[in-house]
Amino acid sequence: MTVRHFLSLDDLGADGIRRVIDSAIALKARPPRKPPLAGRTLAMLFEKASTRTRVSFEAGMTQLGGHAIFLSPADTQIGRGEPVEDTARVLSRMADAIMIRNHSHDTLERFAAYSRAPVINGLTDRLHPCQLLADLQTYTEHRGDIAGRTVAWIGDGNNMCNSWLHAARLLDFTLRVAAPPGYQPEARIVEAAGAHAVICEDAPGAADGADLVVTDVWASMGDEDDREARLADFANFQVNRALMSWTADDALFMHCLPAHRGEEVSAEVIDGPSSVVWDEAENRLHAQKALLLDLLDA
Ligand code: CP
Ligand code: NVA
Repeated sequence: MTVRHFLSLDDLGADGIRRVIDSAIALKARPPRKPPLAGRTLAMLFEKASTRTRVSFEAGMTQLGGHAIFLSPADTQIGRGEPVEDTARVLSRMADAIMIRNHSHDTLERFAAYSRAPVINGLTDRLHPCQLLADLQTYTEHRGDIAGRTVAWIGDGNNMCNSWLHAARLLDFTLRVAAPPGYQPEARIVEAAGAHAVICEDAPGAADGADLVVTDVWASMGDEDDREARLADFANFQVNRALMSWTADDALFMHCLPAHRGEEVSAEVIDGPSSVVWDEAENRLHAQKALLLDLLDA
């Protein structure tokens, strides 16, 4: 039987994303009566730091009656050079699913190619699809179907931006991207999004009439050495009250967190009435429980 991985939103497709969001909303309202993942184990391999991803997967497995194991290179043989293909073969004979947060998306794909168990992308340099499930659930809860809406991405064309482009193509909305020169999202992902992606000259052009404004840190994990240069390059790309005045009156603000107030977003926006960042964070739990049940046919 073919193993179903979740390395990108394309692995679920439009119908699968809608199915998982519906299931997440239902799970949030009413937990299952019997623990559906009793006796099942999720191995979680983190090469990078995490608060939300680690706790939401771990708490989610507990709530579903299963167990999660936290693994890091420092205390496994990965840190001493065991090949990723060998680690994948071993872990997937013991665990029912494996969640990985690592630097290189290519390594994630190599791992998945050798895994007998579903592999879930918990963030790579290229994509962050689990966050998109939570964000799309959040938009649906607050405003209904996102199809036909306009979303403004302001800031770095990073892993989050790439996953938003995937979502725009799959769920039929427009993603306007305002990023400084040199920080555009991956060209082939923009190209694949076709008319669903609009590259804008500046932040107000992207925010004009938008239903949702999204941003993320200016220096992602791994970009810390460039931090000073980035602060200067992104100076005109802060989401603040002036920028939000361009949007539709009922526009929402999202950020995957962690946030840097005074850099990519002002405190008055992230802590203000349009912000749904705490719902996004909570929905990591519900969306990933729904994803686990879907991938494990439970
Ligand atoms: N948004 C997100 O993935 O947060 P963590 O880095 O804390 O997991
Ligand atoms: N773009 C950020 C997201 C963190 C959740 C990073 O990769 O560090």
